[in-house]
Amino acid sequence: MSSKAAKKKTRAPKVSKRSAKQPVKTEKSAKGKAYATLVTELRSLLKDEYDFIANAANFSALVYNSLPDVNWAGFYLLQDEELVLGPFQGKPACVRIPLGTGVCGFAAKQCETVIVPNVLEFPGHIACDTASKAEIVIPLFDGERVLGVFDVDSPTLKRFDDQDAEGLNELVTVLVAHEEGLDK
Ligand code: SME
Repeated sequence: MSSKAAKKKTRAPKVSKRSAKQPVKTEKSAKGKAYATLVTELRSLLKDEYDFIANAANFSALVYNSLPDVNWAGFYLLQDEELVLGPFQGKPACVRIPLGTGVCGFAAKQCETVIVPNVLEFPGHIACDTASKAEIVIPLFDGERVLGVFDVDSPTLKRFDDQDAEGLNELVTVLVAHEEGLDK
């Protein structure tokens, strides 16, 4: 698969349209509800605390312990032209990723959410844990500026879909808006 095929632009996440004749997919709505619950839990964790490292650490723990079938969840924060490992949950990971390299560097450089169904098919994928089979990377924005990315890995192929992209984008948007005092 080319990197073009592997990536999906979801900064304004597209939700696939369902024809009226198709049955309602309860699994999808359950996932949407689960993300809505996570947003509520995140807002509660963030309440009255504005230290970014503390909040990002709790954010990673919340996602890692709430989403099924995930083996790594955490932040890489942009410093000059490098992504530097931030708060995370999971096994130790590579510390520095040049902008444009790997899934994280690609997402940060392109300013796009990237869903990788099979990491072995993503050119330049950086394997921190050989157990990881699928990955999703969400950029964090301060306006148009990229602050870093939030990366989630799974040991299951095709683990992440547009609903994960939408839900995780909402979660990181809540975190950044909170840090910037935009939710007061
Ligand atoms: N797989 C990532 C590297 C980070 S780890 O998954 C934690 C990448 O290709 O950028």
